[in-house]
Amino acid sequence: MRHLAVWLCVGVVACVSLQDSSPVPAGHPREGDSASRLPKPDRKPTNVRRMQVNFYVRSSADPDSGCRLTIGDEQRLDICKFNLSAKSFFIIHGWTMSGMFEMWQGRLVQALREREKDANVVLVDWLDFAHQLYTHAVNYSRVVGKELATLLDFLEEKEHFQLQNVHLLGYSLGAHVAGFAGNYVRGTIGRITGMDPAGPMFEGVEPDKRLSPDDADFVDVLHTYTREALGVSIGIQMPIGHIDVYPNGGDVQPGCTLTDVLGSLAYGNFGDAVQCEHERSVFLFVDSLVNQDKQSFAFQCTDSSRFKKGICLSCRKNRCTGIGYNAKKMRNKRNSKMYLKTRADMPFRVYHYQMKIHVFSYKNLKDTEPAFSVTLHGTNSDSQPLPLEIYGQIGLNFTNTFLVYTEEDVGDILKLKLMWAGSTQTWYGLWKELRSYWVQPDNSQKELQIRRIRVKSGETQKKLTFCAEDPQLTNISPGKELWFVKCRDGWQVKNRTRSANSSL
Ligand SMILES: *[C@@H]1O[C@H](CO)[C@@H](O)[C@H](O)[C@H]1NC(C)=O
Ligand SMILES: *[C@@H]1O[C@H](CO)[C@@H](O)[C@H](O)[C@H]1NC(C)=O
Ligand SMILES: *[C@@H]1O[C@H](CO)[C@@H](O)[C@H](O)[C@H]1NC(C)=O
Ligand SMILES: *[C@@H]1O[C@H](CO)[C@@H](O)[C@H](O)[C@H]1NC(C)=O
Repeated sequence: MRHLAVWLCVGVVACVSLQDSSPVPAGHPREGDSASRLPKPDRKPTNVRRMQVNFYVRSSADPDSGCRLTIGDEQRLDICKFNLSAKSFFIIHGWTMSGMFEMWQGRLVQALREREKDANVVLVDWLDFAHQLYTHAVNYSRVVGKELATLLDFLEEKEHFQLQNVHLLGYSLGAHVAGFAGNYVRGTIGRITGMDPAGPMFEGVEPDKRLSPDDADFVDVLHTYTREALGVSIGIQMPIGHIDVYPNGGDVQPGCTLTDVLGSLAYGNFGDAVQCEHERSVFLFVDSLVNQDKQSFAFQCTDSSRFKKGICLSCRKNRCTGIGYNAKKMRNKRNSKMYLKTRADMPFRVYHYQMKIHVFSYKNLKDTEPAFSVTLHGTNSDSQPLPLEIYGQIGLNFTNTFLVYTEEDVGDILKLKLMWAGSTQTWYGLWKELRSYWVQPDNSQKELQIRRIRVKSGETQKKLTFCAEDPQLTNISPGKELWFVKCRDGWQVKNRTRSANSSL
């Protein structure tokens, strides 16, 4: 438990309140320099005021635009211009150490209003409860979920209001608040999106103690910070929705690594590294709302390592979906884990390709670790050289599958250039190279043959076959390159002995 506390302390900007063992007195949210703060007319400067959950209808990104709803008060619905027949989004923040609203909330409000003009966007303010020791905040998340369910029950009694039109968006601990709300409400909420739901004290627990598929008609989850340290991860690792999307494997997000945020480290914001990956879930959702023409797609796969090998890029039988707001509703019994690669910034979309390469080897090669890269030449543009990541060993006399992705849209691919880097760029590799040189001075032995490359686009599902530009020239050795041109639409599939099977 101590480790947990220390790690959580690392996970946020300040570490102040973890040092007190008593909850912070209510009614004293710490004020900071953040611009996105709501006016808090109800927070009287007194310690005896009851802690409460507030619901603010937000009509713009302007943090001053909040209009407070009161459970049981119909007049407030009119005053706040709550449209009972429209969609309603409820944004639920997570545990907080600062006691303040965070920057991303304004951005999410704005993006929702842009995409769904008529919709009600309500901010669930549970700062009083969230601004506590983490373990206390976890305990309060159920109480807060119940309070939100009470508000929804009140709305449900009004004409035109439908729970099916309700979409809860919970970040971190707020995702479990959404789960509890869905559990307590009379009826079924349309949708819950969990944005990197909190892991500590939720990992591995029973479905009724966390967000789960039973909490809404459709539950989708984005996992962006599931890297484990000292036995816990800030974001929950296990799948807890109908679909669970793990961008970049769910652990390391591009643009968020320590070196990327070294600049902010220099200014003493150590927590930014963690915040970046945790909050990436929110920005992926914002991206899905505002960049409709640049949708990211995720592909179902049993695990991250199979996805990285390029095995899973199929869209058959609902195996792929848009992410965030564009996620396709699925009500499968089992959790569906989905994967994708992303860019480091908005728009996050990349283009995924599966490459199948049969590597022939006619010479006895020991310790062959070819470092291949491929360049795509398309109708729109050419890609950078893209590394063919080899996990484990390259298969000789075997069809290897790779995942490559580009940030730019190259269009329809016309040509491919395959390169074998000169030598492994490590001292160890160099030493091995030298040693094998002494043992077998004839280095020309290092040679492989590749006759064609089969490519499938994840985004278009199109399959293409590329053949060696010169059919006589299919040998490649270190430092050399080979060109392949499109020779066929689709992949030629060998005729299987179907008759034998069908007669069974
Ligand atoms: C309320 O929402 C409905 C459904 O989106 C829409 O048709 C209607 O125009 C909205 N009413 C107002 C007053 O905005
Ligand atoms: C959680 O809250 C309940 C009351 O709501 C209390 O009885 C219980 O002791 C609390 N548990 C922890 C671990 O704080
Ligand atoms: C690959 O197959 C060729 C021809 O069948 C054979 O000569 C060669 O030894 C095989 N290479 C390996 C590494 O098994
Ligand atoms: C595959 O089988 C079909 C029907 O059995 C036949 O018409 C076709 O020519 C075969 N294709 C190849 C490449 O053998």
